[in-house]
Amino acid sequence: MEIAKLLAKKKFEIKYTKDEDSLSRDLSAWGLTAMGVGAIVGAGIFITPGIIAANYAGPGTMFAYILSAAVCALAALCYSEFASTIPVAGSAYAYVYTVFGELVAWIIGWALVSEYLFAVSSVAVSWSAYFQSLLSGFGINLPDFLSVSMGTPGKSGGVNIIAGMITLIIGFILAKGIKESTKLNTILVATKVIVILLFIAVAIFYIKPANYNPLLPFGFKGVLAGSAVAFYAYIGFDAVSTASEEVKNPQRDMPIGIVSSLMIASVLYAAVAAVLVGVVHYTKLNVADPVAYALQLMNQNWVAGIVSFGAVAGMTTVLLVMSYGGTRLIFAISRDGLLPKSLSKINKETHVPVFNTYTFAILASLVSMFIPLEKIAELVNIGTLFAFSTVSIGVVFLRRLDNYDELPAGFKVPLYPYIPILSFVMCVVLMTQLQAVTWMVFAAWFTFGLIIYFTYGYRHSHLHQKSDNDDDQDSDIEPTI
Ligand code: ALA
Repeated sequence: MEIAKLLAKKKFEIKYTKDEDSLSRDLSAWGLTAMGVGAIVGAGIFITPGIIAANYAGPGTMFAYILSAAVCALAALCYSEFASTIPVAGSAYAYVYTVFGELVAWIIGWALVSEYLFAVSSVAVSWSAYFQSLLSGFGINLPDFLSVSMGTPGKSGGVNIIAGMITLIIGFILAKGIKESTKLNTILVATKVIVILLFIAVAIFYIKPANYNPLLPFGFKGVLAGSAVAFYAYIGFDAVSTASEEVKNPQRDMPIGIVSSLMIASVLYAAVAAVLVGVVHYTKLNVADPVAYALQLMNQNWVAGIVSFGAVAGMTTVLLVMSYGGTRLIFAISRDGLLPKSLSKINKETHVPVFNTYTFAILASLVSMFIPLEKIAELVNIGTLFAFSTVSIGVVFLRRLDNYDELPAGFKVPLYPYIPILSFVMCVVLMTQLQAVTWMVFAAWFTFGLIIYFTYGYRHSHLHQKSDNDDDQDSDIEPTI
């Protein structure tokens, strides 16, 4: 094994941006904001406020959301710099390949696979909970052993068949080549936002001030730990950054789109959290569908039905976008030779990596059927925080590249180097707040990833094969345009 190969950096390859270049630059800052809200707002708002209130932050749950939004805003600025300076497919994995080299790129890519895979699995579990709440409105109640996984608090549990099925259906739709249009996205975003505003407008009249006392039963520590879980609700803005090639004026619109979608999401989240804990005592909120649950307690069954419908519709887009993103990421890694070729094989008719899409759907389906939501949500967070921390500190290394001035002039993080460093530190702080078991599972995931890299990726890497055949190895090690 050669250290130089582990550190080999990929060139900024124009051929990988060709497809993107042929896309029309139609997205405005507004379109990006709608896309961001579409990708961000899903299970996080309909599920996690209950988990955070009951287990971590109590009535102070809104502070957990605000703190988490601040960390995301810092990371989003760093993402924007990369997305506008190195506009290539593969997102953070590709950025890191050019800046830190192959081994770190693999590690980040593997962490991002966990983000997308577990995000889809966890949103599927939430989708299932809200779908069942809708069914129960029609008097259809499924037994626990078919509708929740073992280990779900307060339930006997078994296999979450509905979560497993929706994941497979999404995989089937994606394999057929369906793309979400901006129009559909806008309609679904509007549905989600209206439903959330409806909840706030109805529930605000049922707030009992006594429920806010004590405001922070678990202290600031609880808020901090809660914000590590709340982080989940903001995941999705990294999907926005991958659209930089379709934006009219990426240098200006990208930061506006990312930051304003984050701001809209954080205002909605903080408002829902504040109202929810005012209506239901935080100790009773450890349920899978807290928003609908609160409305049922208020005897607002019609509104609960509408909210459940809006939640199901909203989570469906998150499932589609995150499944799509996950398969694109695995595609990019496989195209570099680090995963088997079959994962980047494109179906000639549909132009979709079909094998990849079904593999991803089946894996996500298995996770969603057997693991309870709380555990999956923490796994999404640790993988994402890990990737964000690397992207944040990566900005410092990006600016120090010898040929930095030759790269496209993109958006620049303000207050450099303080914001990238602060973002890195905050991501690490949030990671330390996650449970020990999450770290252990992540370490196992990480070890599994390294085994795959050293037994497969290292030997099949196209970059290695290219540099072995290349007389001038330096040309592969330094990123150039
Ligand atoms: N942010 C995404 C959601 O909350 C994962 O559904």
